[in-house]
Amino acid sequence: MLIGLEDLRVEQKKVLLRCDFNVPLKDGKIVDPARIDASLDTIRYVLQHDGAAVLCSHLGRPKGQASAALSLKPVAEHLSRALGSEVKLAPDCVGAQTERLVESLEPGRALLLENLRFHREEEANGRQFSRALAHGKQIYVNDAFGTAHRAHASTVGVTEFVKERAAGLLMLRELKALRALLENPARPYVAVLGGAKVSDKIGVIRNLMTKVDTILVGGAMAYTFLKARGVEVGRSCLEADKLELACDLMDEAGRRGVKFVLPSDHVVADEATPDAAAQTVTEIAPDKIALDIGPRTVEEFIKCLNGAKTVVWNGPLGYCEAPAFAQGTLRFGEALALMPTVFSVLGGGDTAAAVKDQPWAAQFSHISTGGGATLEFLEGLELPGVKALES
Ligand code: 3PG
Repeated sequence: MLIGLEDLRVEQKKVLLRCDFNVPLKDGKIVDPARIDASLDTIRYVLQHDGAAVLCSHLGRPKGQASAALSLKPVAEHLSRALGSEVKLAPDCVGAQTERLVESLEPGRALLLENLRFHREEEANGRQFSRALAHGKQIYVNDAFGTAHRAHASTVGVTEFVKERAAGLLMLRELKALRALLENPARPYVAVLGGAKVSDKIGVIRNLMTKVDTILVGGAMAYTFLKARGVEVGRSCLEADKLELACDLMDEAGRRGVKFVLPSDHVVADEATPDAAAQTVTEIAPDKIALDIGPRTVEEFIKCLNGAKTVVWNGPLGYCEAPAFAQGTLRFGEALALMPTVFSVLGGGDTAAAVKDQPWAAQFSHISTGGGATLEFLEGLELPGVKALES
């Protein structure tokens, strides 16, 4: 059984709160703080109930080496602004100096521990490190849905050494929304898949195939499926070693009565660069690269949403970093977001990044903060970080 933060009494207790503050940085500045902001409710809950919040997270992949470029300092500054009171950054996540800071932390205050991955033992799920992390805390709360697919010290090992454990409010929101996609989803049910590679989505396609009525495929991965159907794709991104698999997946969809829809027109260019001249075509010339779904495909995809009760969308439908090739994703996204009766869930990572600045983005039922974690969940895999909370 999963216990939620609100089921525990945090008053006067030290709460180790695992968050996923793994946010994109550029020149030492946070590019998109969405993941930090998504945990603010949980942090505020602890503070308002007179708990002392000891926040911890990884940032990037420093592989056991401390590095100034991957310090959580910008995160501490963002949190201080968002919470309206200073969140100090401890010099490390374990050790005597940090222990003293934790000990003197008052109820209603938050302290941020330095990047967990500055220690190799974090990713190795080391026992001594897990024990050190737990030291001096009475409660462990995991709000890091985005890291729940990793069996690390701060997501799994630590649970052995803290008396009480619970899921944070973000973790609960994520699990509720994503479980609704796999357990008795309301139908008709449409899956929209995009992104670069078929190989990243095989497990998701196979699992969703058993649940959905329609699968719409856009993004670069669509061209492996189109090629498998015998369509000329020019120099578009292609996984030649996945053509047979693509055929198998489409055959399986056919056998299950799942409609499998591919783009029928395309926005192409000579090069995959942001300022390449865009052209809309129905047939891709041998020297062209398809970088977005065309307007006819957008209309066809939107038509497939008619009457849908549940929609899951994972992966952009074009090369969204370039405005000229982001139109398919944005026009489709807007139509989906504004369908009031559809339960619409977006996978995190690139899909969330592609729509985050749009005024209609808030209209989706749920935008996941997980990238890899969301994919593994949709594949039907058990997430170790969630299992460790349950056991
Ligand atoms: C993510 O960004 O998907 C999570 O924070 C996990 O990060 P990782 O892929 O470096 O383990």
